[in-house]
Amino acid sequence: MSDSMITLTDESLTIDHSSREVDRERFIAYQNELSAQAEEKAQQRQHAKGKMTARERIDTLLDPGSFTEIGQFVGGNVAEGFKGAAVVCGLGQINGRQVAIYAQDFSVQGGTLGEAEGDKIIATIDKALLLRIPVIGIMDSGGARIQEGVVALGQYGRIFKKTCQASGVIPQISLILGPCAGGAVYSPALTDFIIMTKDNSHMFVTGPDVVRATTGEDVSFADLGGAQVHNFQSGVAHYLAEDEDDALDYTRTLLTYLPSNSDEPVPFYDYIEEDVHIDVGAIVPDETKVPYDVVDVISAIVDYGEFVQIQEFFARNIVVGFACIEGRSVGIVANQPIHDAGTLDVDASEKAARFVQFCDAFKIPVVTLVDVPGYRPGTQQEQAGIIRRGAKLIWAYATASVPLVTVILRKAYGGAYIVMGSKSLGGDLVYAWPGAEIAVLGADGAVSIIHRRELAKALEEGNEAEVHAELSAAYTRNNVNPYLSVARGELDGIISPNDTRATISASLEALQTKNTIYTGPARHGNMPM
Ligand code: HXC
Repeated sequence: MSDSMITLTDESLTIDHSSREVDRERFIAYQNELSAQAEEKAQQRQHAKGKMTARERIDTLLDPGSFTEIGQFVGGNVAEGFKGAAVVCGLGQINGRQVAIYAQDFSVQGGTLGEAEGDKIIATIDKALLLRIPVIGIMDSGGARIQEGVVALGQYGRIFKKTCQASGVIPQISLILGPCAGGAVYSPALTDFIIMTKDNSHMFVTGPDVVRATTGEDVSFADLGGAQVHNFQSGVAHYLAEDEDDALDYTRTLLTYLPSNSDEPVPFYDYIEEDVHIDVGAIVPDETKVPYDVVDVISAIVDYGEFVQIQEFFARNIVVGFACIEGRSVGIVANQPIHDAGTLDVDASEKAARFVQFCDAFKIPVVTLVDVPGYRPGTQQEQAGIIRRGAKLIWAYATASVPLVTVILRKAYGGAYIVMGSKSLGGDLVYAWPGAEIAVLGADGAVSIIHRRELAKALEEGNEAEVHAELSAAYTRNNVNPYLSVARGELDGIISPNDTRATISASLEALQTKNTIYTGPARHGNMPM
């Protein structure tokens, strides 16, 4: 046999290159056969665990027939019947728009990452950067391939760096559809959105075995790093999917609100005016301490009532997500009175800060709906770093260059008023509903501080309750209303609740060319971490 002869596992497929008459059809048939065998094996292994294969996931996510695979046989020896690396990469379309995608293939060496897989993933992100299109990563992997040692570790480092280079240039979405363990978790952690499924989806820096060995703690995969933990407690994940189909469907939906890159204009859709009129004001009770679901307000003012929440179950005292207003994609941030009275805390501040920062990176206008009694008081919050972590939200709004439209629905007190997209932080157009309470402190707290002496005297005279009520009423009359803010230019107007949607829409239209870039002397600011 000559050196140029490639002997395939099936003798009948032997190809003689020396004659330079390559039997293309037979070779392609062989390639296809290898692919089919690999997929069959993958289906057997994955379906037994209730999971799709990498290729099934790609096919479900992308528009039918749109996938162009890149480097299918990289990392393997076709002649020896090896099917390639443990990751499937390529380009395709979602709702007619280009995306780049990589999906780890658990059926090949546990989806682990070695040299070939690292090269393929980095090449995919590079291709996405070149084409200025979103990149989607589907994780299902045992992490760094132990046999490749430091080579595998180095590849993770390169993926981290590439992901950071792509951050803010193209949207990056990660789906965790299997294990994602060890330092490998930082690959999705550096992307914009993480989607996990209720079952089969785990993320942890150290797995249950290591935890048991080092600390003695006995913990399950789910309790350590399951989707519930990361959606409800840690805030690592942005969406809790029922199953893989739901995860893939959410990814398609999410992308409809995002531009393909930071230079592209924000998505704009034809909007057909609906003949539905919701009394927005009636959703919000007059009494400021009575809770209501702010999602009902959002649904009432956005196109078709469609609102896609991000991190729905984490820091539920604030709501963030995407919607369209008269066809224009916007990011919405709103205090949520049904959870912790809508107070701001460490988690809410970070959740909203990251969201505003994402919107700013991709030129998506931010609409802020304010109904906030203040920061949550107490030692727990102070010790958790409310100063450091709360500062992130100020930073995000203050450095944002996208249109910022803010509406105060019912109340905005103290520092929380300033933080929530106020005029002084850079809010472009700021409105309030009639009767909105805007002040440094609520009447009870303020009166007991500024009228301490009168109240002490009243206490001695036995009419403290009466005096307190009178002073509170006077304080509310003079200080707790939006009219002072209008006069000072902190508000651009008082609007009727039922004009909220039209006012926001007109404001966004008026601000559409806004795209200021901060040109201070610094190389970059030092965002609070
Ligand atoms: C090499 C691995 C592997 C690994 C799994 N496999 N993990 N091979 N390196 N890290 C192989 C298995 O040997 C097996 O091969 C196949 O993949 C499937 O694995 P199973 O264990 O049979 O599957 P399952 O029971 O579903 O368990 C999946 C798992 C478990 C939970 C992921 O495999 C596991 O705990 N693996 C190790 C996880 C880990 O600690 N990784 C290193 C993390 S550190 P065969 O031939 O039998 O099919 C890391 C550093 C990143 O990633 C650094 C960044 C800075």
